[in-house]
Amino acid sequence: MNIPQQQVTDRHGEDDTFAPFWNDTPIRTYLFDAFSVLLPAGEQFVISVVESSALQLPPTSTLADQSRSFVAEERAHQRAHRLYNQQLEKQGFNVQEYEHGIEKDLDALRAKLSLKAQLSLAAAFEHVTAVTSRIALRSGGLLSTSASAQTRLWRWHCTEEVAHQHVTTDLLQALGVPYWQRIFYFLAASALMTFDVLRHLHGFARLDIARGRVSARQLRQATSRLLLRDSANLVLLAAGWAAYFLPLKTNAASGCQ
Ligand SMILES: [Fe+2]
Ligand SMILES: [Fe+2]
Repeated sequence: MNIPQQQVTDRHGEDDTFAPFWNDTPIRTYLFDAFSVLLPAGEQFVISVVESSALQLPPTSTLADQSRSFVAEERAHQRAHRLYNQQLEKQGFNVQEYEHGIEKDLDALRAKLSLKAQLSLAAAFEHVTAVTSRIALRSGGLLSTSASAQTRLWRWHCTEEVAHQHVTTDLLQALGVPYWQRIFYFLAASALMTFDVLRHLHGFARLDIARGRVSARQLRQATSRLLLRDSANLVLLAAGWAAYFLPLKTNAASGCQ
């Protein structure tokens, strides 16, 4: 498969030669594409859990109303990322196989875990997604400033993730999920997401190297650049992740009023 090569100037002003990547460098592109693979099944899990949790609330409460808006937004994200992932599949990446594996794992968790445990997992997924979204959107963040379709989709999605993240943590409080349970599933969800994103990222890179879209040397350079020049983004990401260990802020809308 031949992909045309072009001269790319990255945002740090250095030239490198590889086929165009929508998020400036291969590694940053793989990172978001890998995350997208998780989303249709991950968002279905979160939607089902939020719907079940909201049934425990009076239907006229503020939080029940916010849960309904949350579900509508996640359904729209899900539709957009299904199309996004179909494009990845057309580019030759074996995305469907990854998606089916994730769907199977999450269905098994839904069948085995209590509602409080499922909600703890869903809130953890939402926290990691919202923290990543904040770092993606900040000036000099992880998302390209280009006007590509992918960048526009991610900016829309990340903005809604940051805005609605409180819904799952408010539900945790409303359903009385204890601290230990919230943290236990946060650690499990973080390990699961990291493993899956790295696995997909590795699969994308291996295929692109094999078909000559990028060389192993270019990929190493792009990875070093991510680790060195995006260090502020990575530190903020780690700090945002760790903030989940703090007690939750009490939200007036989280009660069952
Ligand atoms: Fe979403
Ligand atoms: Fe979300």
